Amino acid sequence: MDGNGRWARERGWPRLKGHEQGSQSVEKVANACMDAGVEYLTLYAFSTENWKRPAHEVAGLMFLLERFLSEKVAMMNEKGVRLSTIGRMHELPDAARKRLERAISETSHNNRLNLTLALNYGGREEIVDAVRAIAGEVRAGTLDPVKISSETLSDHLYTRGMPDPDLLIRTSGEMRISNFLLWQLSYTEIHVTRKLWPDFGPADLHAAIADYSSRERRFGEAHENPITASSNS
Ligand code: IPE
Ligand code: MG
Repeated sequence: MDGNGRWARERGWPRLKGHEQGSQSVEKVANACMDAGVEYLTLYAFSTENWKRPAHEVAGLMFLLERFLSEKVAMMNEKGVRLSTIGRMHELPDAARKRLERAISETSHNNRLNLTLALNYGGREEIVDAVRAIAGEVRAGTLDPVKISSETLSDHLYTRGMPDPDLLIRTSGEMRISNFLLWQLSYTEIHVTRKLWPDFGPADLHAAIADYSSRERRFGEAHENPITASSNS
């Protein structure tokens, strides 16, 4: 969800105003996803690198997260949104972590949209955590190293049980992955829009889905040859 700072700067406002406006986009986009039949929406809300921002900006982001949760859980239950998180939750401030745990348990029975917030998330850190867990099992003698496969890795990521993303939408025109879902994005289609996150709405989501639908996904396989595929013998 990139571009909040630029959105605020364009207006001569403090960065936090941009984050506040950005948090409004979340509900609109989540609703548009449900209308479009999307079952999994993962939002990169706070990266492991974002701690390097000024303390007041970090505190402001945590405040917005808590406010978002206290205001939206009732609506999530009305609409069938199941909340989850990926990232190193134990390093979040206590208040934010407790509010999150409550929201996750209060929405755990829902099944229309799986809304995952990536918080204190880093793709490399996720792979490191998975490798540590796997190494622990090997040391304990419960896992044979020869049996380690890409499924083993997937099953030890924060996203275990979730499908890999079909589509990655990158806002604000940046052409990079920025440590997001490094393992899971292997075959994901990427849609980059210049729209800043606070300006990103349902119409932009529909444009991204239309762009996705026009792609031919081959997953490393060859094109089907139209001549051999036809039956004009
Ligand atoms: C939001 O956008 C990212 C979050 C940490 C929520 P930015 O704050 O990175 O916005 P820009 O890149 O300065 O425009
Ligand atoms: Mg940014």
